Amino acid sequence: MTAPVLIHLVAAARPNFMKVAPLWHALRADPAFDARIVHTGQHYDANMSDAFFTDLGLPEPHHHLSVGSGSHAEQTARVMIAYEEVALRERPAWTVVVGDVNSTAAVAMVCAKLLIPVAHLEAGLRSGDRTMPEEVNRLVTDVLADLLWTPSPDGDENLRREGVPAARIERVGNIMLDSFELLRARIEADGTAARLGLGARRYGVVTLHRPSNVDDRATLAGLVDQLRTAAQSLDLVFPVHPRTRKQLLAFGLWDALAGTGGITLVEPLGYVQFMNLVTRAALAITDSGGLQEETTYLGIPCLTVRPNTERPITISEGSNRLVKPAELLENVRGALDGRWPTGRRPALWDGQTAARCVASLRRRIGCG
Ligand code: UD1
Repeated sequence: MTAPVLIHLVAAARPNFMKVAPLWHALRADPAFDARIVHTGQHYDANMSDAFFTDLGLPEPHHHLSVGSGSHAEQTARVMIAYEEVALRERPAWTVVVGDVNSTAAVAMVCAKLLIPVAHLEAGLRSGDRTMPEEVNRLVTDVLADLLWTPSPDGDENLRREGVPAARIERVGNIMLDSFELLRARIEADGTAARLGLGARRYGVVTLHRPSNVDDRATLAGLVDQLRTAAQSLDLVFPVHPRTRKQLLAFGLWDALAGTGGITLVEPLGYVQFMNLVTRAALAITDSGGLQEETTYLGIPCLTVRPNTERPITISEGSNRLVKPAELLENVRGALDGRWPTGRRPALWDGQTAARCVASLRRRIGCG
């Protein structure tokens, strides 16, 4: 019997964990692979990291790089230095990076220079907006990756347009929904919405954390006003991201928001608790990427407070719409009145993406 092939799975920040977990479980079940998790430490608070490892059945990371927060250059550079050491020591046959955070691009750059093949899971997404740090990370990662696993046809199209050879592109679907299906029973049985006194379809879930929404005082103050008005029509529950908490406090906006009847601010939640809130919500108000996809999968109206999205299929096929901050209230009313498309699930968003990734890797290592 040949020795199992070493694969590094890189996890860094909250939205990465639900993409890494299904692949970890699938690789571990296949004797052809020895999968190891590298946590860069970009997110480190217990409720931004450990809670997800526990919920998703992930083991202690095999390597923890502890890079922490910092400017973009600091964070990216620290990941590169720390991961290079691990990669040189272990020389994985493949390294898998996911999503579009700073660690994703940093690890792709290290591997490209060490000639370690990289697979990018969630490749090909483009907002066309280079003011978003994630768009820069997506471009860098995709130009360097040897294997590009896309979630939807627009991803393939973007890559082809940028000159990526077709042989490198494989459409595998959306792995986030594998995590949802793996944990669906626990999500449905979880009592988070009930514990917060929220009745099914009688509240909205809010998440906001993009620098473009929360780092500028006037923009964030406008959003706070809109949410306070919207709360007159619908209860809102808002798990507050650490970046957003910091900015609400710094701009003196926290008390007004927290003191508004109908608005419940809570700490960031684990995956199961958060998805329990989402599955029972009337709608979501968000600037997250993942939530646009999860609401499309569940047919729940999603009001995305951004000028663009790298996930256009959630609009063309799903229940997502881009909303200007000033138009939040009228969109909440529209969704509550049923003036909102329910959409459908895009092809290959079916809970089987991890299996397709494993089959793809098997072909690449010559045992497919
Ligand atoms: C990062 C990703 C973003 C992703 C988001 C999900 C990049 C460029 N951005 O943004 O794409 O949507 O994660 O959450 O990679 N902080 C804590 N505890 C933590 C982590 C962060 O308190 O565990 C605070 C720190 O003050 C930090 C700030 O949050 O400076 C921002 O964290 P950072 O990782 O730089 O970016 P995010 O906004 O989380």
